Amino acid sequence: MSHAAAAKPATARKSSALSGTARVPGDKSISHRSFMFGGLASGETRITGLLVGEDVMRTGTAMKAMGAHIEKRGTEWVIRGTGNGALLQPEGPLDFGNAGTGSRLTMGLVGTYDMETTFIGDASLSGRPMGRVLEPLRQMGVQVLKATPGDRMPITLRGPKHAAPITYRVPMASAQVKSAVLLAGLNTPGITTVIEPVMTRDHTEKMLRGFGANLSVETDERGVRHIFIEGQGKLTGQTIAVPGDPSSAGFPLVAALIVPGSDITIENVLMNPTRTGLLLTLQEMGGQIDILNPRNAGGEDVADLRVRYSELKGVTVPPERAPSMIDEYPVLAVAASFAEGETLMQGLEELRVKESDRLAAVANGLKLNGVDCTEGEASLAVRGKPGGKGLGSNDRNAAVQTHLDHRIAMSFLVMGLATEKPVTIDDAAMIATSFPEFMGLMTGLGAEIG
Ligand code: S3P
Repeated sequence: MSHAAAAKPATARKSSALSGTARVPGDKSISHRSFMFGGLASGETRITGLLVGEDVMRTGTAMKAMGAHIEKRGTEWVIRGTGNGALLQPEGPLDFGNAGTGSRLTMGLVGTYDMETTFIGDASLSGRPMGRVLEPLRQMGVQVLKATPGDRMPITLRGPKHAAPITYRVPMASAQVKSAVLLAGLNTPGITTVIEPVMTRDHTEKMLRGFGANLSVETDERGVRHIFIEGQGKLTGQTIAVPGDPSSAGFPLVAALIVPGSDITIENVLMNPTRTGLLLTLQEMGGQIDILNPRNAGGEDVADLRVRYSELKGVTVPPERAPSMIDEYPVLAVAASFAEGETLMQGLEELRVKESDRLAAVANGLKLNGVDCTEGEASLAVRGKPGGKGLGSNDRNAAVQTHLDHRIAMSFLVMGLATEKPVTIDDAAMIATSFPEFMGLMTGLGAEIG
């Protein structure tokens, strides 16, 4: 699937105060896992609040190709799963489009099956490293029948007759790698162990337990997590209400902080502590964000966020916070562009292997729009201009290159709402992968984007 042919440039302009109440779509990580675990479990799974974005729909299509029944009834998705261990060999390649989470988790899920599965994706996904998932799968006995050099897609896997349980220490902070190994463990006899030195989002652990998996976590005295999963147990369908995605909420949130006079409320945002690094950082920068009505919904913390325009100050973001805000650095860099002084972000090595090299894409986009910043190997320093004076560009041909990356696209459109001159991006098409309602939601709050 090529998005390049359908590139849709977009421009954001200095806007007057944003106001109103909005709900962002369902969390992407939880939505992918809802389709996967529902498609695998015995019986019926019912999901409300699912993110109906291209990435998640790819996961749904893949699960259907392997025997799950998925149907939309009104606002609810109803799934009848195959039962653990009973996925079927798909007839053709599984096309994951732009979706790293969908493809990497599914490689874990089906890799240990005694069948052949081929994974393909768009230009962005085909350039991303898959060795991080293939390495533990190989240890479990999975054969990589085909792969593009550097363990890139297209990739064909063939599982063993009986997979071997392993103990795997995740070498980088990655919830996708952790999850892929745990999911491979679901179809493996015995106990598969994942050692996670740096905690990442824990949706796989929480949700698998909810579906009835025998999964336990022990944290040692150094804070290292040991996650144990017993294979070949029964999973049973669940009812899931997906909370709003904190990564998507980051866009209207930063917009309200940088557009003078703004006062908005974003309802029903997931507040899982492995996902709230951006909130904490923006509060440290002086952002007025009130956490209203905190509550628990379906095992997850959620809250409403009231956000008001704020005079931000630069801060140093500690590297150990990176896993809890890994997808939010592009939009944090935008907030930093309007802050007094320097914001220093460190520990960003994983940003280089996202939907694009996000570190380079952000630094180039900032420079193109007049922001003073320094890109390091794994760091970014941004020196802000309060009020956005002189920032942006009147040259529509000088569009920010988004490199098929939804978060780069949305971040720079947010930036243009507060810069003196407009900000243009080369392509808004990829926004549909995670936040199809973005344009409507933002213009509904008063943003000038077109
Ligand atoms: C995700 C994990 C993160 C994140 C991605 C979603 C997940 O990726 O960037 O958007 O749902 O497990 P990594 O595991 O590569 O850090």
